Amino acid sequence: MPSTPCPPPLLSVIVPTYNEADNLADLVGRVERTLSGLAWELIIVDDDSPDGTADRARTLAAADRRVRVLQRIGRRGLSSACIEGLLASSAPYLAVMDADLQHDETLLPDMLAALRSEDLDIVIGSRYVAGGGLGGWDERRRSMSRFAGNLGRRLIKADIKDPMSGFFMVRAEVFRRRVRRLSGVGFKILLDLFASGEPPLRFRELPYEFRVRQAGASKLDNAVLWEYLLMLIQKLLGPLIPLRFIAFSLIGGVGVGVHLLVLWLLFKGLGVSFLVGQAVATLVAMTSNFFLNNILTYRDMRLRGRALIWGWLSFVLACSVGALANVGIATYLFQAESYWVLSAIAGILVGAVWNYAVTAIYTWKRPKAGAA
Ligand code: GDD
Ligand code: MN
Repeated sequence: MPSTPCPPPLLSVIVPTYNEADNLADLVGRVERTLSGLAWELIIVDDDSPDGTADRARTLAAADRRVRVLQRIGRRGLSSACIEGLLASSAPYLAVMDADLQHDETLLPDMLAALRSEDLDIVIGSRYVAGGGLGGWDERRRSMSRFAGNLGRRLIKADIKDPMSGFFMVRAEVFRRRVRRLSGVGFKILLDLFASGEPPLRFRELPYEFRVRQAGASKLDNAVLWEYLLMLIQKLLGPLIPLRFIAFSLIGGVGVGVHLLVLWLLFKGLGVSFLVGQAVATLVAMTSNFFLNNILTYRDMRLRGRALIWGWLSFVLACSVGALANVGIATYLFQAESYWVLSAIAGILVGAVWNYAVTAIYTWKRPKAGAA
């Protein structure tokens, strides 16, 4: 005789975690109180936090089957964690909320009610509509959030007051329709959702007051800002351009600045010959590009120790060939009577693609499956 099935969840709350062990018990207790009477579940997506968050989460899950744990090994990322948690749910309504209690969980029932009763795709917890607030944020963090928000608003062309919010509830079918176009990098999953498809999402913002973090520390650092910039550029250029190539090209642009600066110092400042100045500037720019790429573009597979020296060597070699190809092609086109700017750009493009492709294979090799 088949047993009576357990009723399926109506609402899944996805909670990404990294080092949030001390917040989990409080979080689950609060969600349970707020959502009592509803068929809910809570999916904790942890990126193998060193503080044992996943084990703590499993202990809570062992006491209540509505709590589930998804532990990812060898990967990091707030957005990608949310996406995987969202995909692990079968509920028709999906919420994303932080683990550190900064998002006000008592807003969840209102969000659900709005989504169920109105013609909406998504409801956003907002700090910037009347009744909402930023809690204890200092002026620096406030203005950073405003600046990032303005950039984001421009990209998605929707008048969301709080586009940087990481607290929202969406219809499952709306999320699944867009999931393949998400870039999945960085912190800004909400912005990613809005920027990933047509027609525009029908949304409403509900106010809440951002709370002060009690336990643990924020993970928002400079790398997160950098990833935000990359995501914005990728959304503008289209999903076919790899994110790493965008990062690589931006750093290449910085390299041009470094090159000119070094050349100017040596040639104009110290009176070194142009040839020597140019050679030294090239090497310095390549080296700074290598380190910047190692820190930013390949953050997840950063070379260290001895591998760093070999990496640098292969990078310089690859980029030297790239520079030859650049000059060769530009000169050829120029001699074939192309406009000089177009010739130069074609050379730079070929050089950049070459450098990117070759260093991706030889400098930052992907570890073979199982080898790491
Ligand atoms: N799985 C996983 N992987 N979770 C992560 C990662 C990661 O790499 N990085 C951060 N988290 C989790 C944290 O554990 C926390 O639950 C949540 O994501 C937010 O991280 P915080 O470090 O607390 O971010 P914040 O408070 O600075 O940023 C908040 O404000 C932004 C608005 O300005 C977050 O609410 C963002 O979602 C929000 O967009
Ligand atoms: Mn936080």
